[in-house]
Amino acid sequence: MANRILLLGATSTIMRQVALNLIGKDDKVCLAARNTEELAVIAADLRIRTGAALITTHKFDTSDFATHQELVETAQHELGGLDIVVAGTGALGDQLKARQSLATIKDIIDSNYVGIATTFSVAANILEQQGSGCLCVLSSVAGDRGRQSNYLYGSAKSGMSAFMQGLRNRLAPAGVRVITIKLGFIDTKMVAGKSGTFLMASPEAAGAHIAKRVREGADVVYFPFFWRYIMLIIRNIPEFIFKRMKL
Ligand SMILES: NC(=O)c1ccc[n+]([C@@H]2O[C@H](COP(=O)([O-])OP(=O)(O)OC[C@H]3O[C@@H](n4cnc5c(N)ncnc54)[C@H](OP(=O)(O)O)[C@@H]3O)[C@@H](O)[C@H]2O)c1
Repeated sequence: MANRILLLGATSTIMRQVALNLIGKDDKVCLAARNTEELAVIAADLRIRTGAALITTHKFDTSDFATHQELVETAQHELGGLDIVVAGTGALGDQLKARQSLATIKDIIDSNYVGIATTFSVAANILEQQGSGCLCVLSSVAGDRGRQSNYLYGSAKSGMSAFMQGLRNRLAPAGVRVITIKLGFIDTKMVAGKSGTFLMASPEAAGAHIAKRVREGADVVYFPFFWRYIMLIIRNIPEFIFKRMKL
């Protein structure tokens, strides 16, 4: 079956792998990202590698809220409808810098949460009305518990996961699938050179798994799977102990 697909944050390393694994030759696709030059190169590559019926590109900056409704409606118009929307924008940001910089705080929250909540709200109304479709977001295990080293990023991901939970609850009766992917460490530029990373998975494996879940359906997915159990333990450490840990 041919799908009409909107990919938000299409320049992300993981989203490039999602695109390669998700897009079929009959699909019509809109790629959106803030770096339009890099996006054009990615679009050209995907046209060759997937043979998709149509691939368009548009600028998407998560902080430029005034453009979000128009972006989703333009994609719907160009593709002749909308079936799948996947969002992979996000900035890890510098937690130490954010202590002194309100602009850094805003960037982290907009890119991981607000700018996706706005676009998904527009897309949700479209999919709800047509009674089918799929919304999927790349969230993080960092949202499962706030830690001193990344609580701004973590809180934005946590907000995103709660937003998706509510949307899933709203859209289930309409037959719209709402998928939250909670990623552990994936070997991309986002975490390159960062200390404290472990059990790193490849973006290729992440992209293939995310595309499979979008095709087959899911609610909340941990990737790699063992992060579900790691986070179960971390969530259950009593607060009086957790607040003394250096995490
Ligand atoms: N890598 C990991 O270990 C890991 C773990 C958990 C969750 N995740 C999540 O997975 C998703 C993809 O991350 P990745 O690892 O593929 O990292 P990445 O390659 O750095 O991708 C991040 C993407 O977010 C975009 N972005 C950042 N700020 C934006 C803004 N203001 N407006 C529009 N786009 C913006 C970036 O655009 P530019 O190319 O223009 O910078 C880039 O396309 C993110 O949501 C991330 O939080 C990753």
